[in-house]
Amino acid sequence: MAILKIARAGHPVLKRRADPVKNPKAPEIRQLIADMLETLADANGAGLAAPQVHVPLRVVIFHVPEARAKEADGEAAEGQPLTILINPEIEPLSDARESGLEACLSVPGLAGLVPRYSHIRYRGVDHEGRPIEREAKGFHARVVQHECDHLDGILYPMRMEDLSTLGFTSELGHERVEES
Ligand code: NI
Repeated sequence: MAILKIARAGHPVLKRRADPVKNPKAPEIRQLIADMLETLADANGAGLAAPQVHVPLRVVIFHVPEARAKEADGEAAEGQPLTILINPEIEPLSDARESGLEACLSVPGLAGLVPRYSHIRYRGVDHEGRPIEREAKGFHARVVQHECDHLDGILYPMRMEDLSTLGFTSELGHERVEES
């Protein structure tokens, strides 16, 4: 395992569309996921997409800490365990969107308000090739949309509708925003 270098905004790997994974159980994919897990833990982030570690493949990992879910969506919200999602697809389940604060390991130090679908379904396979299909709301849905955007060359500032909300977390008073 290894902690990988994280690409920052401006690097070409973050601008291109990532390629589908042909064999989720291939040894090189297993190694990639192991390294991504170690890199995410080291960065203390909520999620990570393979292009962020310079690999243009459709692989994301993420988790939602229970405390973060409750902070964003109220006491009824639940966390999500660490999830490995390969070749993901997202389907909005309503047109409703909500704005929330996001930060990104590839845009370090900054945060801004981003509108996202508040209720989605996502599908993909895990590292054993088993299908995953879940509905997600609130912060959980936000993290998945943020990570999957990385697979299509999109960084969260490109989704912002009010750039006046973009700022350094240390100035915004939001030091606890997890990057992803
Ligand atoms: Ni990100």
